[in-house]
This record gives sequence, C-alpha cells and structure tokens, in this order.
Amino acid sequence: AVLGTGRAHAKAILLGEHSVVYGTPAIAVPVSALTTTVTLRPAAGSLISSALYRGPSSDAPSRLAPVQAAWRATAAHVGVPTEGLELATESALPIARGLGSSAAIAAAIVRAVADLAGVTLSVPEEHELIQEAERAAHGTPSGIDARTVVAEAPIRFELGAFQPLRVGASLTLVIADTGRPGATSAAVASVRALRERTPRTTDAAIARLGELAEGSVTDLATGDRAELGLRLRGAHELLQELGVSSPELDTLVQAAHAAGSPGAKLTGGGQGGCIIALAPSAARAGQLSRALEEAGAAQVWTTVIGETA
Ligand code: MEV
Repeated sequence: AVLGTGRAHAKAILLGEHSVVYGTPAIAVPVSALTTTVTLRPAAGSLISSALYRGPSSDAPSRLAPVQAAWRATAAHVGVPTEGLELATESALPIARGLGSSAAIAAAIVRAVADLAGVTLSVPEEHELIQEAERAAHGTPSGIDARTVVAEAPIRFELGAFQPLRVGASLTLVIADTGRPGATSAAVASVRALRERTPRTTDAAIARLGELAEGSVTDLATGDRAELGLRLRGAHELLQELGVSSPELDTLVQAAHAAGSPGAKLTGGGQGGCIIALAPSAARAGQLSRALEEAGAAQVWTTVIGETA
C-alpha cells in the first residue's frame, strides 16, 4: 500500500548561477520532462530504497545525508514517525549535473511526507524543509534550486524572493550533459576563494553576471532570441573567468554556437555537468541536439518555455 507520494522536477539556470550566491538576481527554468517521485510504503524499520542504496536509513552512505535530512525534518515538522516506512525514490534526473537532483529529491520527500500526514504545507514551510536538505548537500545554497524544482514557470530569483516571469515567445532550450559530474559545493567554494584572492575583479564579474540576468527579463518578455543569446555568451565567458567551466563544457558551448545557437553557456554549479543552449527556432532544436551529441554530449534534453502559440 502506498501511504504517501511526492513529485518534483529538474531545473536549469538560464543566467546568474554563482553570482546569485552573492545576492544578485538569477533566472531559472523548470525542466518538467525530468521528474523525481518519492513513495512511502509500510515496512519493518525505516528503510531507504534508491538507485544508489537500499537498506536501513541509519546505515545509508553519506551522500544520502540530504535524503535523511529531508525525511527527518519533514516528519518532525508534520508530526509523523519515520519508523515503519520505506522511502523509495525514483528519479529521471542525472545526479551532480547541475540540474537540481538534490533539491528535486528533497522536494519530493517533503511532499510525500506531508501527503502521508495529510498536511498541506505553505510555500515558505515547504521551502525551508527543502533548504534543510540542500544545506546537507552543499553548504550555503542560495535557495534557487529549491524554488525552481517546484516552479511551474521560469522564475526571477533574488535573495530568497522569487517571481514567475512572463515569456513572450516560445523558446526552445537544449540542455547537454558533458557526462562528467560537477561538484556544486566545490565550485561555490572555489569562487569564494577566488573572491578572497582577487576581490575587485571577482566582484566585478559577479556584478556583471547579475546585470546579464536582470537584462534577460526584458529579452524573455519580448522573445528576443538574439539579445538573450548574447547575454548567454557573455555569461559563459564570465563563468570561465570565475574558474567554474571545464574543457568539456567549453567544447559543448562552442559546438552549440557552431550549430547556430544564438547563445550557450554552462548551467548550474559547473566544473562538469551541463550546458544550456538557446535553439535558433523550435524547428532547428533537433539539429542542435544532434550537433551536441556529435561533439560528445552524453545526454541531451529539450525544454520549451513561454507561449506555445
Ligand atoms: C546551483 O544550481 C547554483 C549555484 O549558484 C549555487 C546556489 O545558488 O546555491 C552554483
């Protein structure tokens, strides 16, 4: 018998990763094709069943600390036990690719436990519980992942607050995976270290990344692919300066531009993980995807934002 279920989806950051940690705005999009589902069933003990591990929650490996944190915190919050249950996760999201897998799993757990308890959580309550798991996963998360994995539309995020964005045209985005894991916490720490060594240039790059994110709000509203593409290109160069790109990411970004993308950049924590490329049109998204596969992408996904008219 299923006692509770919860669901969330992947996210991709269009503009503003890393700089968002320092309080500048960022733009993120839901990737609804890639979902995570969590199911709670009766069991003897307190069990976790996932692709990585199956067994008692207390013996789970340390990379499942966010799962334990989300489960424990939500159960305590809504007043239900974690004993007598198996928590099973099923996720189409690749792990450690900058697509929000840790936040999506946490969100699905929070929702499944709330469902079990028959409780409807407020948006701030739900967010705080997801963030608890995110802190276990990577230290000082800005909260953008936790917001976007439950968002229905692209969002503008700044200092914990977020607004859904109007997108005035149908825009196709292609996400391509280098096949190499990224490490968001290490990448965030490396930017912090760079900022200590070279505060002036690092802060200038952070400010410029924030301006590119802010400027894209207008491009999205008007559906201006050329302008948006230029901002994506500019952001990738700044992220290179911050040291969070990699040769594999740079290769895929160049391949996207060579295949006619108005602009492409790394997405998420970087140092591995994925790129995001704006397709020149919906009709040419397939061609762009194939070019990225030929350039070495391990996997490619397409997501459409904005009006479908
Ligand atoms: C990770 O998706 C985005 C980063 O900006 C980290 C964060 O905001 O917590 C790299």
